[in-house]
Amino acid sequence: MTTRTPVIITIDGPAGTGKSTVAHLLARRLGLEVLDTGAMYRAVSLIVIEEGLDPTDGPAVAAAVRRRDLHFDWTADPPRIMLEDRDVGERIRDMDVSGIVSIVAARSEVREVLVALQREIAARHPRLVTEGRDQGSAVFPDAPVRFFLDADAEVRAERRIAQLTESGRAVDAAGVLDDIERRDTLDTSRRDGPLIRPRGAITIDTGPLSIDLVVDLMERTVRREIAGFADPDAADETDADGDDAA
Ligand code: DC
Repeated sequence: MTTRTPVIITIDGPAGTGKSTVAHLLARRLGLEVLDTGAMYRAVSLIVIEEGLDPTDGPAVAAAVRRRDLHFDWTADPPRIMLEDRDVGERIRDMDVSGIVSIVAARSEVREVLVALQREIAARHPRLVTEGRDQGSAVFPDAPVRFFLDADAEVRAERRIAQLTESGRAVDAAGVLDDIERRDTLDTSRRDGPLIRPRGAITIDTGPLSIDLVVDLMERTVRREIAGFADPDAADETDADGDDAA
């Protein structure tokens, strides 16, 4: 294996398990790019809000996404989510977007468009850590290593509250837990691409673990599972970042 060999690693799990953070850290250690598919569903929800669409009208929402230019700016690290030439990375974290994203993400027509886009992205960025809800189960079921991160809803709510507070947003603690539980229900019960533990995925309960320990565990797993991943070139790349390549 060389540093050009395609490799896709998937990370799925419910909101607040630290997926985005560990995906970025793992990608950096392994010299891979990173794809935040939740940001794509959030950007679609922003389109719904801005165009005044009915979030349950799957065909209309999917048609709007096809008309618009939803993409990532890959020159940034991590890549920035863009609507046309507008960076919407901050805007898509607002409560109005969070409030409808599970409804939008439940529409099969919308998932079809985004899954196709995710596969196109992976074709152009074939060395990728991709995170979401259905990446290992539906979008990239043949990925050589698939992770499923989990944690109790209370732990996940505490983490989300800390994140929101840190970014200077007003926080309604009870509302955050309700929102997480409501989204869990919607995400696990939808017909198309539901949040499930992919068959054969490696499950990690992130509740009692620090982010660093989770990433260590994942890095060790990847280096063990993917033959030749720890080749000298890959080790050089990670060393250059100051990370442990062991
Ligand atoms: O990870 P997140 O909270 O940014 O995800 C936002 C929403 O998008 C979440 O409610 C589930 C949905 N989602 C999805 O259905 N499939 C994905 N691959 C990623 C996210």
